[in-house]
Amino acid sequence: MKQSPDQVISYYDSIATNYDESRFSNTYGAYVHQQEIGLLDKYVGKENAAHHVDLGCGTGRFLAYADTGVDPSQEMLKIAKAKHPDKILLCAKGNHTTLAQESYDKIYSLHVMMHLHQEEMLPILIEAHRLLKNKGLFLFDFPSKKRRNLIRYRPVNWHGATSYNLSEIKKISQEYFDVVESCGIIFFPIHRIPKQLRKYLLFLDGWLCRSWLKSYSSYIFVVLRKK
Ligand SMILES: C[S@@+](CC[C@H](N)C(=O)[O-])C[C@H]1O[C@@H](n2cnc3c(N)ncnc32)[C@H](O)[C@@H]1O
Repeated sequence: MKQSPDQVISYYDSIATNYDESRFSNTYGAYVHQQEIGLLDKYVGKENAAHHVDLGCGTGRFLAYADTGVDPSQEMLKIAKAKHPDKILLCAKGNHTTLAQESYDKIYSLHVMMHLHQEEMLPILIEAHRLLKNKGLFLFDFPSKKRRNLIRYRPVNWHGATSYNLSEIKKISQEYFDVVESCGIIFFPIHRIPKQLRKYLLFLDGWLCRSWLKSYSSYIFVVLRKK
């Protein structure tokens, strides 16, 4: 199950040309995308994009919220560049970006932590801490371990195999960040619900993802503030 960081990058190089189409043009992908856009609108915003970084920006799905994108996959970045020729795009891993220190207000990273080993998380937190201005925010998502235990989820391969509880994220990040907010992403087992009904559940799903049940959502989205 353990993959090397280079395996993850080669995988994304190999699927880059159809990543957007295969992941987000179906009703499941659209459902996830809608929820994530809602979170970025609420917690990141587009107004101050010059001071934001999209870490693991991939094909640039969320680059409207940042002027700078970082990703180690050249092929994912090529697609991002074609879509966003005006953005600064850097080919690098999240733990070593070479961007200027204390220069950003917000850094966000979606669908990235789920691919990293636990020991790769801390170096990324340290790098985000270095890049952020005082009290800057680092926002990211990760698969919920509580949900996975509840449904007895067993990863079929390395893809998205890492999951956490919020308490673990607090512990790993405590030297550098305070966790100031959290909520869920995708509460309903949406892949089991008929396609034509999915969009009607979005509102209720979002509500449950903010309720006391949020830790049982598929993913947890956290907002960390630099100490
Ligand atoms: C599932 S894609 C997500 C892309 C984009 N954030 C999105 O949500 O559409 C995961 C991305 O993480 C990138 N990645 C892999 N290892 C990384 C690392 N160590 N640091 C930063 N990004 C990494 C991959 O190259 C890939 O583009």
